[in-house]
Amino acid sequence: MFACTNASQGECLEHRLFGTSKLYGAAAMKVKKGDFLFLWNLDSDFLYGVFKAVTDGKLNIIADAWEGRYPYQVRVEPIENIVPLKDAKKLLGKLGVGRSSPMGKNATMTILELYRPAIVPMSKWYEFLTKTEEGRDLRILSEPKSWELFAHMKKTEESVEEIPRLQATTLWDFPKQTYGKTPKGDNKYAGVTPAELIWNLVWRYTEPGDLVVDPMCGSGTTIDVCKEEGRRAICYDIAPPSSRSDIIQNDARKIPLSDGVVDMAFIDSPYGDNIRYNEHPDCIGKISSETEKFYDELEKVIEECHRILKPGKVLGWLIGDQWVKKEFTPVGFLLYGRLTKYFDTVDVICVARRGQSSNTSIWYNRARRFNFYLRGFKYLFIMRKTLPGAKKTEETRIINWTYYERSTRKNRG
Ligand SMILES: C[S@@+](CC[C@H](N)C(=O)[O-])C[C@H]1O[C@@H](n2cnc3c(N)ncnc32)[C@H](O)[C@@H]1O
Repeated sequence: MFACTNASQGECLEHRLFGTSKLYGAAAMKVKKGDFLFLWNLDSDFLYGVFKAVTDGKLNIIADAWEGRYPYQVRVEPIENIVPLKDAKKLLGKLGVGRSSPMGKNATMTILELYRPAIVPMSKWYEFLTKTEEGRDLRILSEPKSWELFAHMKKTEESVEEIPRLQATTLWDFPKQTYGKTPKGDNKYAGVTPAELIWNLVWRYTEPGDLVVDPMCGSGTTIDVCKEEGRRAICYDIAPPSSRSDIIQNDARKIPLSDGVVDMAFIDSPYGDNIRYNEHPDCIGKISSETEKFYDELEKVIEECHRILKPGKVLGWLIGDQWVKKEFTPVGFLLYGRLTKYFDTVDVICVARRGQSSNTSIWYNRARRFNFYLRGFKYLFIMRKTLPGAKKTEETRIINWTYYERSTRKNRG
């Protein structure tokens, strides 16, 4: 289901094109040719149908449609007349249909039924919707033997593909390592990255078809996320798992790529020598983060990432601090110092730490008894390679803040 307003509806119908912004881009790109589609006018609260997709979801089918505001698009064709259903919000709410994931089978069938003209009997309606003439090859999530049979089916919704949401704040917390129906990376791999974190960077900083590189990709979470989101990925590790032939063995301090060819780099590096990743002598995870050498070696990786990135493109780096045997090491701050030698800062995200081995009541009690803290978060540094000609201004910026009156009991009315 796509949404429009009174202002954008004309262009949807005129171009036979539905579009959306980055906010729902991931869902739009999952549309496949032949899917049933509906258009919800948020102003009039009409749901227009029935449409079918005549292309897969694509970037910029018509680049200047809606003045470029909705680049994630799909070409549509109505199936016979376009019919508006009123009170769409209520209907969709009842069916549990949200805007950021595809509709399940039962919801789709229920809505389709609402568009059936009275003169078309149930059995013929299904046939009519799915008949295959030239250019009409409708994909239905699961084909019932007949429409009547479906009508009597138990109303259990098949699980619809879960599509993550873009994070809005600088505090990210992912309770599960992965999302969706397919695994991303290996959740048993020591130090595996939450897949949704990579998904968020991919959707914020790249477009479909872009090239993403992960020079220390461990179990391959980055490759799996990129594949599903239509990005190209080249991933390396000093000791790739034997189960993955798509990870190239390479030392991150020398990446075999030309200068300025990469659209985004992501690294979840070792945080010191706290995890035994492998036996490779060049594994940076063998160097203590209490030593300068650790940061010197990571700086070589930073320099390589800077070299391979296109100007203006982003490097995301995930790292955590260390507290061991009564000694705190601000690994994040020390790495950040090195990153800022090469990159501008886009933002710093605090990522909740989940699933580490100290996440047990024994460790929680020890932390209280012996007066120390368990690591509760990691840093995600989002850094940008400066665009040529973008000079830094030394002047103090003048900001016209909008100050709001605090609401008091009196002015709350
Ligand atoms: C925290 S893990 C990465 C986890 C990964 N993102 C995932 O989701 O599975 C860090 C990785 O850095 C790799 N590594 C350590 N030193 C390296 C080096 N010199 N070059 C490339 N990879 C290295 C380790 O083998 C390990 O797999």
